[in-house]
Amino acid sequence: MMPGARLTTLLIVTSFLSTAGHLGAPVHSGALITSHNVSSLDITSKIHTDHDTTTEASSDFGHIVEATPDGVFRPTFPADIAALIRLSLSQPTAPFTVAPRGKGHSSRGQALAAGGIVVDMSALGGRGHRTTVSVDGMFVDAGGEQLWIDVLHAALEHGLAPRVWTDYLRITVGGTLSNAGIGGQAFRHGPQISNVHELDVVTGTGEMITCSPEVNPALFFAALGGLGQFGVITRARIGLEPAPKRVKWIRLAYSDVHTFTTDQELLISKRASGSGFDYIEGQVQLNRTLMEGRRSSSFFSASDIARLTGLAIETGSAVIYYIEGAMYYDDNTATSVDQKLDALLEELSFVRGFVFVRDASYVEFLDRVGREEQNLRSAGAWDVPHPWLNLFVPRSRILDFDAAVFKGILRDTNPIGLILMYPMNKDKWDDRMTAVTPDEDVFYAVGLLRSAVAGGSDVEQLERENAAVLELCDLAGGIGCRQYLPHHASRDGWRRHFGAKWGRVAELKARYDPRAILSPGQGIFPPPLSPAAAASEPTTASAHTASS
Ligand SMILES: Cc1cc2nc3c(=O)[nH]c(=O)nc-3n(C[C@H](O)[C@H](O)[C@H](O)COP(=O)(O)OP(=O)(O)OC[C@H]3O[C@@H](n4cnc5c(N)ncnc54)[C@H](O)[C@@H]3O)c2cc1C
Ligand SMILES: *[C@@H]1O[C@H](CO)[C@@H](O)[C@H](O)[C@H]1NC(C)=O
Ligand SMILES: *[C@@H]1O[C@H](CO)[C@@H](O)[C@H](O)[C@H]1NC(C)=O
Repeated sequence: MMPGARLTTLLIVTSFLSTAGHLGAPVHSGALITSHNVSSLDITSKIHTDHDTTTEASSDFGHIVEATPDGVFRPTFPADIAALIRLSLSQPTAPFTVAPRGKGHSSRGQALAAGGIVVDMSALGGRGHRTTVSVDGMFVDAGGEQLWIDVLHAALEHGLAPRVWTDYLRITVGGTLSNAGIGGQAFRHGPQISNVHELDVVTGTGEMITCSPEVNPALFFAALGGLGQFGVITRARIGLEPAPKRVKWIRLAYSDVHTFTTDQELLISKRASGSGFDYIEGQVQLNRTLMEGRRSSSFFSASDIARLTGLAIETGSAVIYYIEGAMYYDDNTATSVDQKLDALLEELSFVRGFVFVRDASYVEFLDRVGREEQNLRSAGAWDVPHPWLNLFVPRSRILDFDAAVFKGILRDTNPIGLILMYPMNKDKWDDRMTAVTPDEDVFYAVGLLRSAVAGGSDVEQLERENAAVLELCDLAGGIGCRQYLPHHASRDGWRRHFGAKWGRVAELKARYDPRAILSPGQGIFPPPLSPAAAASEPTTASAHTASS
């Protein structure tokens, strides 16, 4: 970013005082939208340009990418966001970019805005304050900025809860719905985006629109999995179910990938799901991690780890896998749950005796990564680079992927972090949404969730391994993976990512964010020319090719 360009944007932002009179009223007010008199002073006083604030909005959980915004906007009402977008569009030279930021838990700068304005979504509602539960309707209306942990507690007050969870709950409703929101319940209920009834969205044209599968469906389906490209989600209506009280939380170990995946696929099939687990994920433990890694974890005791290490030695396996399952129960089913669990375990082929069972409250189970966060923070291992790579791998190629990645590229590595691997059913995804998945009935989510605790050279090494995995996926005749929480450096990469959906994505972008101001950190569409660049560039066409 050239200093000149930043200064120009700052000046333009400040000059808003004189242009505010042109702002229109909100087009539509949804349930949570408070109509109010947007005055110029309101908007400019909510843009913070001090060094500490802009620095905080310059990086994210990944600590891989940095980009400094010119200011951070703290909206009081959704209408403020509409006003900010209109302000951007009314600039005489080029609009400035606008990036809603949930908690900034992205890994690759997706919520950053170089030289633009980052919207601190958390300013919209004190935690839990913009969350309303309808017991009759079995839904919760949650502000896009709300953390899932707060949505959980609000719903639990009525004995209810959302059906599908991400592993970690200190991320926002708007952030996960812009991706998909996957976790161990998705095999049965689909991702979080499959459990939304209605949205309020502020589009890139500054309109506030309520949308659902019936009303403004194009915007509804665009925004779900939409990577922030079509509008800012300010409210989501999310379906609820009666909340279970407790959970049998189990892990089953496997030394052989074929048996592991066969059992996982049985457990997500209709055949087992009626009486099966309510949650199914899986993890991959590389040999060196077992040999040299932590001697206990929040789930496994020291003697559990010793047994697993023994299993790796005894079987000569480069990798040990475990299925992680959860079976919900409450007072009425407390006496029968063990029997139900035993019956299910009878159907499975884990290594005899390698079953580990914990009993937890529903909240303890759902918030398990929150406890891990506390541990990592106190060990100074949370705010480190996270060059994460998440992939959806078609079922037909998962064994090839396993052989090439876990027994190939990553063999003899000892990553700090987690490797997740679990299957989902495609028929629980709605293909009208922007999110993309492989073209097979069953596909695996594989998360290489690794931390670079040793600094720069560590990041480079992990990124080299990521690149090798991606190359394996992408090569002609390759494995045909799709990235989840995607990042592509080129236009062509994005085109291939969206595949058959690309034409529609471009069309929807032209309709809802024609100046391409929203969530520029995704790098899908070239951002508008900055004023300084516009002054030195003769044509817009050349700028478009330069940044793609
Ligand atoms: C420890 C950890 C565990 C995780 N586990 C899971 C998991 O199990 N399953 C899973 O699916 N994901 C998981 N994630 C990823 C998480 O879903 C993403 O980081 C996601 O981006 C949400 O984070 P956020 O709310 O901080 O969004 P941000 O990172 O702030 O934003 C993400 C993107 O969405 C845009 N955006 C933010 N808010 C809005 C909004 N209201 N409207 C429109 N666009 C918006 C931003 O501009 C940006 O492009 C995990 C992340 C972490 C750090
Ligand atoms: C908005 O506020 C301005 C300044 O306070 C006032 O003059 C104007 O009448 C208000 N408009 C509405 C619609 O309330
Ligand atoms: C597992 O690691 C140990 C110690 O690092 C090593 O001796 C052994 O050969 C490894 N086993 C496999 C199958 O890679």
